[in-house]
Amino acid sequence: MTMRRPFARLTGLGVAVPEQVVTNAWFEERLDTNDAWIVERTGIRERRHAGPDQSVTDLARIASMGALAQAGRSPLDLDSIVLGTATPDRLLPSTACDLQAVLGANHAAAFDVSAACPGFLYAMTVAEGLIASGQSERSLILGAEKLTCITDFEDRSTAILFGDGAGAAVLERTEPSGDRPRGILSTFIGSDGRLADLLYRPGGGAAHPISHAVVDDRSHFLKMQGREVFKAAVRSMADACDEAIQRAGITADQIDLLVPHQANIRIIEATAKHAGMPMDRVMVNVDRYGNTSSASIPIALDEALQQGRIGPDSLVLLVAFGAGFTWASAVIRWG
Ligand code: ACO
Repeated sequence: MTMRRPFARLTGLGVAVPEQVVTNAWFEERLDTNDAWIVERTGIRERRHAGPDQSVTDLARIASMGALAQAGRSPLDLDSIVLGTATPDRLLPSTACDLQAVLGANHAAAFDVSAACPGFLYAMTVAEGLIASGQSERSLILGAEKLTCITDFEDRSTAILFGDGAGAAVLERTEPSGDRPRGILSTFIGSDGRLADLLYRPGGGAAHPISHAVVDDRSHFLKMQGREVFKAAVRSMADACDEAIQRAGITADQIDLLVPHQANIRIIEATAKHAGMPMDRVMVNVDRYGNTSSASIPIALDEALQQGRIGPDSLVLLVAFGAGFTWASAVIRWG
């Protein structure tokens, strides 16, 4: 099916990361691990940890204010807020509703999407759909996380990986015009629930409500079979790149910058290789932020913009993978 694209364009982007920088040396003091192993296997050198008083809503608010300022919009201009998170501040209500309240975005419909690391791209896909169907003119989309709340700091295979942060973007209706219309040219989302138990958080939900037993066996923390996740991530991200490129009606060599989910440098390199992208056309900042799940794409995108690696008319490919398993991709003509 050929769709009339683009329906929506990104008019503002904002991010927030906590101030506290946690280096690999911090883990060397607490776990049987070392900087060399972490850098070689993951590419991560440091990450940011939020303090006990800093919530996902706090991070999301800062990112949202940045995105709204860049778009030249006020919170009251928003008619939808779609927030991707794996670490909502509360199980009820949604973090999007808490954010709506602190922003004073009183004209918006607000809700969360639960899609783990591709949460920002899922939010983008949902918001674009609301815009395309005429139900929204202007949406705030987010990926916002406090992964450290669900990280087991006694488990060396996961503790070193994650960081906290948030990213937000304003998405606005646009009309396609000219030969090279700017905006979202394609989106693609997919999932495979059969693989859920390779990366999951067993306790704390309705199946195993929080209890002394859940806390005692540490099942309220994230569990991961890293090697299996790694293999699936490479496969799914490669396929998702192909799909977004094909749906956008372009070829891989036209892509100016690949902005992949920042989980592991080896996954990023394998994805880039498959997409035929040399690493100088790939955004990497996993070394400084680790895996911030749904916040990772907007944080990387913002840094690419700051560095001047994206400009008007740039073709940008976004791709992510995470628990579920879920995956997602998008092609945007910037500006
Ligand atoms: N320091 C030292 N050794 C370690 C550490 C550590 N921090 N962690 C694991 N090891 C050891 C293991 O115990 C194992 O030892 P053994 O051989 O004696 O049993 C050895 O290193 C190899 O372990 P593997 O798990 O096979 O190591 P691998 O090379 O696969 O790297 C890693 C592990 C980094 C977790 C990798 O598998 C990975 O990045 N997986 C993907 C994670 C990911 O991308 N998740 C994305 C989604 S996250 C989300 O959705 C929230």
